[in-house]
Amino acid sequence: MTPPRSALPAPADVAAELRAAGCVFAEDEARLLLDAAADPVHLAALVARRVAGRPLEHVLGWAGFLGLRVAVGPGVFVPRRRSEFLAERAIALARPGAVLLELCCGAGAAAAAVAAAVPGLEVHAADVSPAAVRCARRNLAPVGGRVYEGDLDAPLPAGLRGRVDVLAANAPYVPTGELGLLPPEARDHEPRAALDGGPDGLDVQRRVAAAAPRWLAPGGHLLVETGRHQAARTAAAVERAGLRAEVAADDDRGATVVVGTLPGIG
Ligand SMILES: C[S@@+](CC[C@H](N)C(=O)[O-])C[C@H]1O[C@@H](n2cnc3c(N)ncnc32)[C@H](O)[C@@H]1O
Repeated sequence: MTPPRSALPAPADVAAELRAAGCVFAEDEARLLLDAAADPVHLAALVARRVAGRPLEHVLGWAGFLGLRVAVGPGVFVPRRRSEFLAERAIALARPGAVLLELCCGAGAAAAAVAAAVPGLEVHAADVSPAAVRCARRNLAPVGGRVYEGDLDAPLPAGLRGRVDVLAANAPYVPTGELGLLPPEARDHEPRAALDGGPDGLDVQRRVAAAAPRWLAPGGHLLVETGRHQAARTAAAVERAGLRAEVAADDDRGATVVVGTLPGIG
């Protein structure tokens, strides 16, 4: 017979095991794993996966993002805290009822957060990874979001052209030569296509910028998360696409976002 939840070990004991395995936030993680465990056998399985180096969010099946619990399955990029800044900038620009598109959406965390904050949005998202699309569909179903699978904007419906008010993208932007510097959790458990931005990190961003004018409504906004030292080149790519670009940064979260605006009519 499975031992009951009341037989779960003390949080301090779980934290000690996690700390010994190198988990920096062992107490917080112990609390989350204890909350998720149905019984001691289940807890042991969760702790074993974490101790083996899986990202906490993959073990739990969700990531916290701007107050939401966003589903994140194995093989899907874990939404980062710094990307909350991208979502906040999008929230500031999206009016009620606006059309929102998230490209390279991963689990769709940014779109879900914007849709939770701004009423009546029409939400679209796309990603090349089938696992990411499955997660995004789950996360965006409550707001009626449509999620498309394919390369960048190729799978989007033609009827969306020229209608998007806010286009947000956290595309991969790690330079290929720096992939080896990422923590093992990212290197070993997130797909390379979610991380590798090519020689200078900007290959996918440049394609996003070039595609944006096809989808944006007049006066619409493109928001691209980027690295602090890449921001000038990201902004240049956005301007080459015919948008006016500004750089916004949040030093506390180490977040940088380039905001491009398509000229309006008249
Ligand atoms: C850095 S992850 C970010 C995911 C999500 N935006 C987030 O912040 O959690 C980049 C995402 O871009 C997707 N991606 C990479 N290249 C792509 C392409 N050519 N077309 C569509 N999606 C792509 C990856 O599958 C991955 O989900």
